[in-house]
Amino acid sequence: MATTIKLTVNGKAVVLKAEDPSMPLLYALRDQLGLHGMHFGCGLAQCGACTVHYYGEALRSCVMPVSAVADAEIVTLEGLGTAEKPHPVQQAFIDEQAAQCGYCINGMIMQAAAFLATTKRPTEDQVRQALAGNLCKCGTHVRILRAVMRAAEKMA
Ligand code: FES
Ligand code: FES
Repeated sequence: MATTIKLTVNGKAVVLKAEDPSMPLLYALRDQLGLHGMHFGCGLAQCGACTVHYYGEALRSCVMPVSAVADAEIVTLEGLGTAEKPHPVQQAFIDEQAAQCGYCINGMIMQAAAFLATTKRPTEDQVRQALAGNLCKCGTHVRILRAVMRAAEKMA
């Protein structure tokens, strides 16, 4: 019998269903809620493409069992900002044209937004360290770093 899991996603109460409670949160968010900002990269918590916010902290949704997020507050890229009012990190990525293929960008933005929420005026080294677990196969790290530093200035 399917288990139901109630939680809050992007400010809305939702119910997810799982035949297998160990199903990754990533699958439920994409397949049941149609939220496609986060991507499946490695499935092993090693690339960051699937990152969401869990109570404001960056979380790899590919390794989080859906049963473990009952009653939790989750924010995805879609809930970080809006088209009319993007989050400063989203705006900075647009301004710096940081994306190439875009596959990693969800993770870069979500990781950076969680980091900047608690670290004001970071150094470039701190940003590099904060994003060390996020991989970009296109090698756009320089533009990504510039975008995060631009956002940091706005958020200071
Ligand atoms: S897909 Fe989750 S960290 Fe790579
Ligand atoms: S922009 Fe292509 S993986 Fe990062």
